Amino acid sequence: MNRINVIVCGALGYMGREVVRLVEEDTSFQLIAKVDKAGGEGVYANLDEVSQKADVLIDFSNHVAIEEIMKYCTEKSLPVVVATTGYTPEETELIIKASEKIPVFFSANMSVGVALLARLVKQAAAIFRGCDVEIIEKHHNRKVDAPSGTALLLADTVKEERPDAEYVYGRGQNGKRETNEIGIHALRMGNVVGEHEVIFSTESQTISLKHEAHDRALFAEGAIAAAKYLANQSTGLYKMEHLLGE
Ligand SMILES: NC(=O)c1ccc[n+]([C@@H]2O[C@H](COP(=O)([O-])OP(=O)(O)OC[C@H]3O[C@@H](n4cnc5c(N)ncnc54)[C@H](OP(=O)(O)O)[C@@H]3O)[C@@H](O)[C@H]2O)c1
Repeated sequence: MNRINVIVCGALGYMGREVVRLVEEDTSFQLIAKVDKAGGEGVYANLDEVSQKADVLIDFSNHVAIEEIMKYCTEKSLPVVVATTGYTPEETELIIKASEKIPVFFSANMSVGVALLARLVKQAAAIFRGCDVEIIEKHHNRKVDAPSGTALLLADTVKEERPDAEYVYGRGQNGKRETNEIGIHALRMGNVVGEHEVIFSTESQTISLKHEAHDRALFAEGAIAAAKYLANQSTGLYKMEHLLGE
């Protein structure tokens, strides 16, 4: 069996270290290079220094690295999993442009479970069109943004089926709810890794769809699955939907 030769960018960071650990444990991969800004023993400080032939690059670094990464990958026709977040519109455009030349997997949430949740949410929103929808997300007390990007992604998924939906953040200042509202509620407490629950309620029943993350390793697991998927794809832009299949 031919192993998939992988470069990990941001290899010394929290997520990068998880990816390195999983790649080293998985016999279908061969880790050929670790890249991180700080460099050090066994770590390249610059991607340009990596001369070994790779099959895929997994990036969990920083948005500012994207120009260098896309230049390297397009020059070498190297498929890339872009898992870093926080891109400017110009940087996002760069990623999309590169996908016209190489296979690019791009997702701000690499969790396969969240991708499945979004799919189920879309189905439920299509079936229960007139019901009340509320989203509750819970995260640790160190999280700086609220609501989470994933809660907004789930709200947007409902909105695809209900274009007149209006987002209402918390209900402190509001009176009676309107039917087209999607209530979005953020809880911040302790060390909760991440929970997202989407509730659909009619006069006669309530359906609750929920994802609970136990460990941030799930994002690294998703990136690994994406890298395996991408190794067999042609030029194009891929996201979690593709990984889930039909
Ligand atoms: N898609 C997802 O599901 C998902 C999940 C989790 C995290 N993320 C994203 O992944 C990224 C990394 O997260 P993290 O928690 O691992 O952050 P982190 O611990 O700060 O790790 C990032 C690593 O990349 C290095 N780095 C910075 N600029 C670089 C460059 N130009 N070239 C190479 N390496 C560079 C950093 O070095 P220094 O420390 O020296 O700057 C650090 O070692 C963030 O954008 C985060 O939002 C995405």
